[in-house]
Amino acid sequence: MIKKLAVLVVGALGLTYGIIYFNNTKRTSTPMTYLANRLSVIKPSPTLAIMGEASKRKALGEDIIILAAGEPDFDTPDHIKEAATQGMREGKTKYTAVDGMPDLKKAVQKKFFEDNGLSYDLSEILVGVGGKQVIFNALMATCNEGDEVIIPAPYWVSYPDMAKLFGAKPVFISCSEKDHFKVTPENLKKALTPKTKWLILNSPSNPTGSVYTRDELVALGNVLKDHTCLILSDDIYEYLTYDGEFVTLATACPEIKSRCLIVNGVSKAYSMTGWRIGYGAGPADLIKAMGMIQSQSTSNASSISQVAAIKALTSSRDFLGDWKKSFIERRDFCLDKINAIEGLSCRKPEGAFYLYINCEKILGKKTSEGNIIATDADFAAYLLNAVGVAVVPGDAFGLSPFVRISYATSMNELEKACQRIKKAVASLV
Ligand SMILES: Cc1ncc(COP(=O)(O)O)c(C=O)c1O
Repeated sequence: MIKKLAVLVVGALGLTYGIIYFNNTKRTSTPMTYLANRLSVIKPSPTLAIMGEASKRKALGEDIIILAAGEPDFDTPDHIKEAATQGMREGKTKYTAVDGMPDLKKAVQKKFFEDNGLSYDLSEILVGVGGKQVIFNALMATCNEGDEVIIPAPYWVSYPDMAKLFGAKPVFISCSEKDHFKVTPENLKKALTPKTKWLILNSPSNPTGSVYTRDELVALGNVLKDHTCLILSDDIYEYLTYDGEFVTLATACPEIKSRCLIVNGVSKAYSMTGWRIGYGAGPADLIKAMGMIQSQSTSNASSISQVAAIKALTSSRDFLGDWKKSFIERRDFCLDKINAIEGLSCRKPEGAFYLYINCEKILGKKTSEGNIIATDADFAAYLLNAVGVAVVPGDAFGLSPFVRISYATSMNELEKACQRIKKAVASLV
């Protein structure tokens, strides 16, 4: 009897253990099977990844200067913050229309008319959670399997992955430093095919700071006139143009305005990156489809942020004068220092807050530990590990060998960073 009981207990225990073991191994031996196949074609934003890694090491006490920021280092102006506070007190804390509060859409409409000479009906305007969501909505609403999206390189890191996520094929046009990293009409003509769904243009550019002139846009427009593709004009750095005028493609070429989606927002010009307000203006059917997608994802952008954005768009931008002065000073300081370093060179960008530094002459050199710098990614890793300066390799933006620095940080940090880069380069053999 006792023997039978013992066999039963041992058997039960064995079975329980077996079930637990089976379940655990089943879970651990087939990891990630629940993730969708579509994830295999994209990767996390490399710029955010580098920022995350450098910030983590800095927080752990390492002496690191981060030149990878994609946002101005100024605070959001007080009048904008006060408008948000007042909005909260007045109870503007509820759902709004998915495509944005009517007053915000009217402010966006006025902005396009006054600053860009473009008229839009309110049905042609959508407010989203940052320019990023507006772009995401647009590509999701339009891209089919096999469509082509032309992306001049170097490009903002999110365009190719968003296109791929929706089954489209990114078609890159390599834009040389000689052409100031801008796409030429000849190269555009070669890239356009009957499958082209979109051309994405970004001026001022992240990562190069290059700005298209009116004449250059007219020349591109003349090529696009013979085609039917849509054009996404990412104007997020519009107000951070220092040399020459800012012109958007739809203004330069009114004939193709009906195929242009302009994406802009308050992130960069008003230092409101965390408020997450972006907007788009384009053909009503496209805007409607984008709104439908948004209605099934985030719904409206934050009501409080929308109130703040209304204030931003409808009040004076005088503060920008000082910000731009400061950015120009930092740009020119860094340019002088970088161009004085043997092996590095950089052209003067007309806008945004980035320098795209050519590091071709560094490739093939050796560190004091005997490691060869074979790529711009190696160079960026070397700068981080040897002298604690975080930059983003050109590899991430689709054009090597370059590294991008963001000069949206204090002069003091920039001085230190330039000295460190100089020291790091000088110690290569
Ligand atoms: C070229 C470009 N477009 C769009 C965005 C998105 O900006 P946001 O989503 O903050 O409006 C960024 C942000 O870094 C950018 O650099």
